Amino acid sequence: MDHFLYRDGVLYAEDIPVSEIAAKVGTPFYLYSSATLLRHFTLFDDALDGMPHLVCFAMKSASNQAILKLLADAGAGMDVVSGGEYMRAKAAGVPGDKIVFSGIGKTADEMRLALEGGIRQFNVESEPEMQVLSAVATQLGKTAPITVRVNPDVDAKTHAKIATGRKEDKFGIPIARARDVYALAASLPGLKVIGIDVHIGSQLTELAPFEAAYQKVAELTEQLRADGHEITRLDLGGGLGIPYTRSNEAPPLPTEYGALIKNTVGHLGCEIEIEPGRLISGNAGIMVSKVIYVKSGEGRDFLILDGAMNDLIRPAMYEAYHDIIPVIEPAPGVDQQPYDIVGPVCESGDTFAKQRDMPPLKADDLVAFRSAGAYGAVMSSEYNTRPLIPEVLVQGDQFAVIRPRPTFDEMINRDTIPEWL
Ligand code: LLP
Repeated sequence: MDHFLYRDGVLYAEDIPVSEIAAKVGTPFYLYSSATLLRHFTLFDDALDGMPHLVCFAMKSASNQAILKLLADAGAGMDVVSGGEYMRAKAAGVPGDKIVFSGIGKTADEMRLALEGGIRQFNVESEPEMQVLSAVATQLGKTAPITVRVNPDVDAKTHAKIATGRKEDKFGIPIARARDVYALAASLPGLKVIGIDVHIGSQLTELAPFEAAYQKVAELTEQLRADGHEITRLDLGGGLGIPYTRSNEAPPLPTEYGALIKNTVGHLGCEIEIEPGRLISGNAGIMVSKVIYVKSGEGRDFLILDGAMNDLIRPAMYEAYHDIIPVIEPAPGVDQQPYDIVGPVCESGDTFAKQRDMPPLKADDLVAFRSAGAYGAVMSSEYNTRPLIPEVLVQGDQFAVIRPRPTFDEMINRDTIPEWL
């Protein structure tokens, strides 16, 4: 459920008409609903009720500091994957002991940053990473709390580009090798083994792969404890999917996911961490865009929008489907017609949808891309020297620009032309 609904024929974000924000901010822009973000976080938090737990928001999905602060104030921790994300979480006021550091390529500099600034745990993904972390921590006279990310060889049954738990994927340590790797960890100075980490992919629409992975983690917990390791924390990753189409069967709910966690690993007495991104931010954000032209092509009409693939790359990159709805609700029974919905960027890949049925639209009409809150703004670029589009946050009847649109000068003046040219 989200808070982008039609009221009296116009699309609202919580209590504000989207067109009112568009008039003030200009298009295109991203628009987030605080109530939806908080609702989704609370669903996860409640689903793990009764177990010691921390919901660490995967901030790679939406990393604006206003969003981070909103969630952190509600009790969320953060899952970060780079020094930049770590610094951004800290800048938003998230304490180090609520930040977990994931990722397969952490550099010594990034480790230093987190050890000095405070960190809840590193999720370590390889032996060489473990060696470097040991060296950095020892050098700083600190102890790095670690889990080892294991690769359980489970097919998440999602888009190949976002599946991470199969043996051919670059992530984690093969679970069969885990006991040796934990033995190595225990022998290295500067490290303290505290748990196990797993993350099998994103946009999972079934619970079975989670179940298979978490059962393997439960077995491994018992084995590692028998080997003498203190396993007190399980980081179970993110990945629960969202409905991108309203006609689609809905993916499992956080309550069902929470029940699965209790059933598979609840008996172990561990503190549970999860790292959801998309389910918290995805349906909490829309991208608002304006029709520039309606162009008649050979046997098809094109809706040319002012938003493009550089603003929302998901359709071009993952063949992702996003609902695109007019900001003025079509009259009941109005005839729909198929459009190819495209942006102005100079490549055919800049196509959001082909032959999508829409009510008739004309230049200057506004449309909203639904489910754009996750992996939207964060994956945008300035391709074609198009400025990054603004982000706006709504709460009730108030809104604020939380990332302004840069001016052309701000964008262009970042380049420096060498004197010798
Ligand atoms: N934890 C780890 C270690 C991850 O790699 C990810 C996502 C998450 C948590 C959060 O997963 P979520 O709950 O959001 O599914 N750009 C792609 C998605 C990439 C996901 C990468 N890792 C997209 O637009 O679909």
